[in-house]
Amino acid sequence: MSIEVIPLDAPLGAEIRGLDLKTDLTAETVAALDKALDDHVVIVVRAVKDLSEEGQLRFANCFGEISKRKRPPSGRGAMGDFDNPFMFVSNIIKDGKPLGALGDGEMWFHHDTSYYPEPRRATLLYSMIIPTWGGQTMFANMYRAYERLPKRLKDKIEGRKVLQVHDYRRVERLDPAKINLDEILHHEHPIVITHPRSGRKSLFISRLISMSIVGMEHSESEDILNELADIAEEPSNVYEHQWEVGDLVIWDNWASIHARKDFPRDQQRLMRRLVIMGQPLST
Ligand code: OGA
Ligand code: MN
Repeated sequence: MSIEVIPLDAPLGAEIRGLDLKTDLTAETVAALDKALDDHVVIVVRAVKDLSEEGQLRFANCFGEISKRKRPPSGRGAMGDFDNPFMFVSNIIKDGKPLGALGDGEMWFHHDTSYYPEPRRATLLYSMIIPTWGGQTMFANMYRAYERLPKRLKDKIEGRKVLQVHDYRRVERLDPAKINLDEILHHEHPIVITHPRSGRKSLFISRLISMSIVGMEHSESEDILNELADIAEEPSNVYEHQWEVGDLVIWDNWASIHARKDFPRDQQRLMRRLVIMGQPLST
């Protein structure tokens, strides 16, 4: 079996054709998928019918070791089984309990796990139930975002770090005055990272998770973070994935941010998610 990698008509992303996840993959296919993720940042496999957990793990293992989830220090906001690498992204309530996390509606652009000391390389979602409208996932290319920064902004962020904070919000800027860092996962990272695999510079901020530029006065930090986020989120830098049931999508979390569009609260949405291990990031 040899797979085809077809770039999307978008600033990032490629579709994979000819992949069969029901049987073991050859070393050649594994290497081709790994390279496709490095080259295209997001990869999409369409119409993967009835993908088993085993099949999803088989796909995920092409990109590295599977990561377990981390509990927040306070236990607050945490949901699901932390020993199972699979997590559901869902708004479904079963027997009075949420089936998964990140439930309803819109979510602003973010990196997954950018508040860990070792941000994870990639996240993959397999779609099982989708609403009749909305719930698209948007991906922005952070290599391009970096390349698009005006020199004035590049100079301002040169050598700076950003405090990345996970406070379980979805559509709100974090207010440092109201945040108790002892209770939630957080970490400082360089604003511009060198992607560990490609060696390219990538902008490592997001509207949702990046709370403040370290050592900078708050209003100036807000101005700069907002300007950086605006550049990253420009429609010409974004691919919008319109989900169909059976789509399998994986994104490079060091080179992209993603967001979710709103969808009706009275309709179900169910995605099965895995995360690939990461490493510390440097300038
Ligand atoms: C995630 C995430 C987006 C979506 O799983 O990390 O951001 O569209 N999901 O559900
Ligand atoms: Mn996410």
